[in-house]
Amino acid sequence: SAAYFEEGAFTGKHIVITAGPTQEAIDPVRYISNHSSGKMGYALAQAAANQGARVTLISGPTNLPCPERVERIQVKSAEQMLEASLQQIGEMDIFIASAAVADYRPSEIAEHKIKKVDGEEQMIIKLVKNPDIVATIAQHPERPFTVGFAAETQEVAQYAQAKLARKKLDMIVANDVSNTNIGFNSDNNAATIFWAQGSHDLDFMSKSNMANEILACIKAQLS
Ligand code: CTP
Ligand code: CA
Repeated sequence: SAAYFEEGAFTGKHIVITAGPTQEAIDPVRYISNHSSGKMGYALAQAAANQGARVTLISGPTNLPCPERVERIQVKSAEQMLEASLQQIGEMDIFIASAAVADYRPSEIAEHKIKKVDGEEQMIIKLVKNPDIVATIAQHPERPFTVGFAAETQEVAQYAQAKLARKKLDMIVANDVSNTNIGFNSDNNAATIFWAQGSHDLDFMSKSNMANEILACIKAQLS
């Protein structure tokens, strides 16, 4: 049946997906992070597994259960997420970076809980740039088909296409996050997929439907 064919669209393929936020430690009890729920990445992992793929989900801290038939590797920081992603090099066909990676991390992690200081009304935490995980994978000699996401609040198409080129991605899924009804914590999303030769609009839909649309677009570009 058609359903059976669809379920096998990625049979024999290994898909690696990053998802969720990263947490960047300040001291043993504090961190810098963001509001990513991980829902889009987990929906992609579930959809890919349903379509026959072997799926490895490299996840930052979320409240979501591991999807069925998915192998999950849990990480906290961007550096750990990069290391886990690089471990899959040469063994993956497709890499999808849906994680909301912290762009910067504290330059050092205090060994002990930082104490308040009497009379100091301000404190400064020095941050350093994190490695770009999706760009590192896309520019590796053994690169898989590499898909990124772009969260933008303005000039969505222009910024997304610039990221596609700069990071040397095969595809990018661009989200307009200025609309607060969709995106980060929502069950729904709207986006546009860009690749070198074209684009495809995904109107407001569930993240589960969007996952299937993104996978269909990847499948079409692969073959
Ligand atoms: N990304 C990544 N590693 C980082 C930062 C981002 O792998 N250190 C990935 C995200 O998972 C996403 C894509 O890069 O797939 C774009 O992320 P985004 O935050 O939109 O872009 P940035 O390159 O970080 O640029 P900016 O936040 O300044 O817009
Ligand atoms: Ca960023």
